[in-house]
Formats: sequence, structure tokens, C-alpha cells
Amino acid sequence: MKQVDQLSLAEQIDFAAQLLEQGQVVGMPTETVYGLAARIDLPFAVEKIFSTKRRPFFDPLIVHVSSLDQAKSLFQTWTPLMQSLAEEFWPGPLTLVGPKQHCVNHLITSGLPSVGVRWPQHPVAQKLLQKTGVPLAAPSANLFGELSPTSAQNVRDVFGKSVFVLDGGACEVGIESTIIHVEGSRVSLLRPGVLTLQEIESHLQQTKQVYEIVSPQKKIAPGQMKHHYMPSVPLILYSGQTMTEVEIAKRVMQELKNIPDEVEHVRILKPAKVQKMIQLSLSDDPVFAAREVYASLRTAAEQKPDVIYFKIKNLHSQPEWNGVMDRLNKAASLHLK
Ligand code: TXA
Ligand code: MG
Repeated sequence: MKQVDQLSLAEQIDFAAQLLEQGQVVGMPTETVYGLAARIDLPFAVEKIFSTKRRPFFDPLIVHVSSLDQAKSLFQTWTPLMQSLAEEFWPGPLTLVGPKQHCVNHLITSGLPSVGVRWPQHPVAQKLLQKTGVPLAAPSANLFGELSPTSAQNVRDVFGKSVFVLDGGACEVGIESTIIHVEGSRVSLLRPGVLTLQEIESHLQQTKQVYEIVSPQKKIAPGQMKHHYMPSVPLILYSGQTMTEVEIAKRVMQELKNIPDEVEHVRILKPAKVQKMIQLSLSDDPVFAAREVYASLRTAAEQKPDVIYFKIKNLHSQPEWNGVMDRLNKAASLHLK
């Protein structure tokens, strides 16, 4: 018998589909980040996602589909507005949240009346979904609160042999999907991503949809933690005048008491001194910056500096940066102004 790593990609996809059918969770590449997938028709498999990730049950999962019909079957209502967004942006890095159909298990939605659905673009995700024939619930394949994985190795590093991971290469988008809540004509942004609210709005205008952009209600977006995506080493953000490393170190030492040891289950290696520092440098192009941000944070943390620092520039306030800046703000332990 062949070893799993000797199988062709098509054989690996078959193998993953079999594991899913047996109620296992599987690492699935998508164009945004890697997901930890389970079949939505197997509640004990869905539960396994939560236990594997050590994720609290109040944080709902995104359901992945491989066709418009499959998406429609999960929502109680499917409006022309949803159809228009789906036709324009799917398959792709957009999650639509709307009223759920009864068949969607409350475990997936954390008891909410709504469900989040996405049709991913990654060919391996599409093949796995087609092979399975059933939608797959999949959060990002990291331990709760930690950095999302953008390669198969990132997933293996966390879950080891306990989770089979399909290798679909490095993720092209690099940060999680944009999440939009749609309720009648009201549209709200729950999580920014590489696809901006401006692009979504411009499409709605062009197609003459009746819509209004509203701010999300708190109760609609559980699991939207203030901190998330955290590296193990404190990430320091600073804006304003350029500072030397000596100046940054001095300021960090002054504010050390404001760096917590643990944030929402993630342990932060709080430094006793600030000697070794690594600057996080990202491309000035937001598309490239999104692609590299998690890998760069990971690589920096692996070198075990006392802190990682990142300078916020004026260009980072442009709308295309909302997704990356949201992740950096949530990953940060300290903001120096
Ligand atoms: O790009 C992505 O979206 C990746 C890939 C794997 O598809 N998935 C992902 O899942 O980022 P996760 O679990 O890390 O983030 C899911 C978030 C939840 O924390 C919650 O904020 C939101 O999606 N969500 C899911 N269902 C929701 C619902 N019914 N109502 C409101 N928010 C929901
Ligand atoms: Mg996540």
C-alpha cells in the first residue's frame, strides 16, 4: 500500500473525502487561509473542529460550498441582492451572512439565526467540496486566537499527525475573507478583507440594487474578538515620527506593564528586557502585504526576538489596507503613539 505522501493530489483528495465521511476533520487549502474542515451533516465531526482548535462554542463557523445552488439551500431567503453579490464575487474571498435554513446545525452557527457561507476559489477546495457533495464547515486551521495558517506546513506544525492536511501551496490572498451581513436591503461589514466594502458598494450601485450600508449590531458578530491572530512574541505598532530601535525599546520598557501575559487564551512571551527587536516589513502594495503578513509575523516570532515592531505609515489608512490593518491591530500587544 502507498504512503499518503506518495499519493497523487487526486488520490489525496479522495483520501480526504473518505476521512471527512468517517467524521474526521481535514486541513483544506483555500485562497484566503487554510481551513479545518468537517462535513456539516455530521454534528460530531463539527464538534471535533471546536475541540481540535480549542475554539469556544460561541464563535460560529463559516460553511463552504461548491455551487450557488448549494449556497441557496443553506439560507432561508435568497434575495436578488445576495444573488448579485454571489454572482460577482464567488467563487472568492467573500463570506455572506444571512438568515439560516433550519437544516443548518446550531453548533455551526453558535445558536444564531444566521449562517455564514462562502464559495472558495482554490481548485483543491473546490475539488474536495465536489467530491464530498456536502458543504464543509471550516474555520481557519489554527488554535483559537493564534495566527491563521497560509501553508500546509503551518497547519502540520500546530496539529501534527492528528490532522491530515491537503497541500494546496501558499495561499494567494493570505488573510481571511471579507464578511458581509445581509438582511433585506441592509448590508453591514462584519470583517474587512482584501475585497473592500467600497468594491462591494460600487458593484451594488452599478447593478442598481436597493441597499443601505449600516454598522453591524454587536449581537450579529460574535467571535469578533478585540484581540486575535496573535503571534507569541509581542507585536508593537507605532505611528507618527520614525523612531530608532533604541527609542522604541525605551518606550516599550516604559509601557511594559500594559503588555498582558495572556490575551483571550493566547500566551504572550512578555519580555523582561527589550534587546533583540525585529521589524516587520510589509510591501506597500496591500495585495502583497496581505499575502505575506501572517508568514512574516510567524517567521519573525520564530527568531525569538523580545518584540516585533511595525511602523504604521499614512498609506495604511487607505481603504484597501483595512483588512491587513484590522489583523495587525488585533495581533498587536501595544500601540505606541
Ligand atoms: O477566509 C475565511 O473566511 C477562512 C477560510 C478557511 O474560509 N475562514 C475563517 O473562519 O476565517 P474563522 O472561523 O476563522 O472565522 C469565522 C468568523 C467567526 O469568528 C465570526 O466572526 C464570523 O466568521 N461568522 C461566521 N458565521 C457567522 C454568523 N452566522 N454571524 C456572524 N458572524 C459569523
Ligand atoms: Mg480564524
